[in-house]
Amino acid sequence: MFVSRPVTIGSRASIRLTRTAFRSIATAPSFPFSRPRGAEPPAEYAKLRETDPVSKVKLWDGSQAWLVVKHKDICSVLTDQRLSKQRNRPGFPELDPGGKEAAKRKPTFVDMDPPEHMQQRSMVEPLFTRDQIDAMRPHIQKTVDTLLADMIKGGGKTAVDIVEKLALPTASYIIYGILGVPFADLEYLTQQAAIRSNGSATATAASMANQELLNYIGKLVDQRVAEPKSDLISKLVVEQLNPGHIQRDDAIQMAFLMLVAGNATMVNMINLGIVTLFENPSQLADLKKDPSLAPQFVEELCRFHTASAMATRRVAKVDIELGGKTIKAGEGIIAATQSGNRDADIFPNPDTFDMYRKRGAESALGYGYGEHRCVAEWLARAELEIVFSTLFQRLPDLKLAVPLDQIKYSDPSKDVGITELPVTW
Ligand code: HEM
Repeated sequence: MFVSRPVTIGSRASIRLTRTAFRSIATAPSFPFSRPRGAEPPAEYAKLRETDPVSKVKLWDGSQAWLVVKHKDICSVLTDQRLSKQRNRPGFPELDPGGKEAAKRKPTFVDMDPPEHMQQRSMVEPLFTRDQIDAMRPHIQKTVDTLLADMIKGGGKTAVDIVEKLALPTASYIIYGILGVPFADLEYLTQQAAIRSNGSATATAASMANQELLNYIGKLVDQRVAEPKSDLISKLVVEQLNPGHIQRDDAIQMAFLMLVAGNATMVNMINLGIVTLFENPSQLADLKKDPSLAPQFVEELCRFHTASAMATRRVAKVDIELGGKTIKAGEGIIAATQSGNRDADIFPNPDTFDMYRKRGAESALGYGYGEHRCVAEWLARAELEIVFSTLFQRLPDLKLAVPLDQIKYSDPSKDVGITELPVTW
């Protein structure tokens, strides 16, 4: 709530300015908005798309930022070189105290601007090209098959949590394998990463798990310095660390970024995909009959649910005009990709899940847009396609063990996700 404080006013102009500023603080709604139920996007987005597509919101620390909700404006924000992704710039919109602390650390490419951003991103990007990921598909398929076989061995009459048995280990084992984590450590690291990010651990436990992961990667970097192999950490060591292009801590932070950046999102997209199919039984029946529909199911899934919607934030380096508003240098901008994915100008009947939807030239924004677009998009798509072309073939009688309205979703003001999903078959 806005509390008025006494102010010293020097001139008529400053009276006007001060009143305007006060009015905007008093009326700017608090952000993040809450989802009304389940995985549904906040209702405020639809309203703002109609009435005020570039508007101000109030953040947790009382500061303000611009919220951009239309697809075309979001694309323009995410490609505008006059905006910065450097979190240590004053005015960068942080969404919680943890973010403000994280912003003080040495950045990796996710928080860099050109030219440094591409210089660092290109150190890992070659391992995530479409061709590279296509070559990995048999390995991803084998991982999913093995995890499903282990889950099936456990029975099926009593409920098992498919998050723990399939979604979490699929997402984790694949990226850890790319990094070069030995197979024997996969389970342990997966547990630590889950404690770090699942929100149900205490702050101390989460921070200990974070440190544990960093220490682990530090040791792995040292091992690869002594004896390089053919994994991502070895690539960083041989091509960047040894010739002196980066420091040891950069190699650790970059490997850590790849380990954590998409992990929770990946897990949540698998979970959301399973629930979406149960919510749309005729499309589930079609997918069971024809698993080659998986890519178009995944395409629509990544439009309908935006499980990483808070990363697309920027701060203005100079004054810019957007949607008839002036965004001043030093003001923060939140590009609401979750809203852009439901913009009826681009996606007719946006709130209907339809894997047969005709696609235009504009893409959905689930993986971002522009230079910071997800570096691992092809990997994420391949994992989702393989999970959804396999799961219901192996388990055609898979059912949720709880009613749809009792599914445990993430905190309604955080990125959409599902924490637990009991199933039987
Ligand atoms: C379905 C799963 C995924 C979704 C929906 C997703 C979504 C996103 C989004 C929206 C961004 C853009 C952020 C921005 O503009 O600031 C992004 C960037 C990024 N993602 Fe993903 N991601 C997924 C999976 C992954 C995976 C599996 C990894 C790691 C292996 C990963 C690593 C990254 C990295 C490192 C960036 C930063 C790219 C840059 O700044 O240049 N993501 N992702």
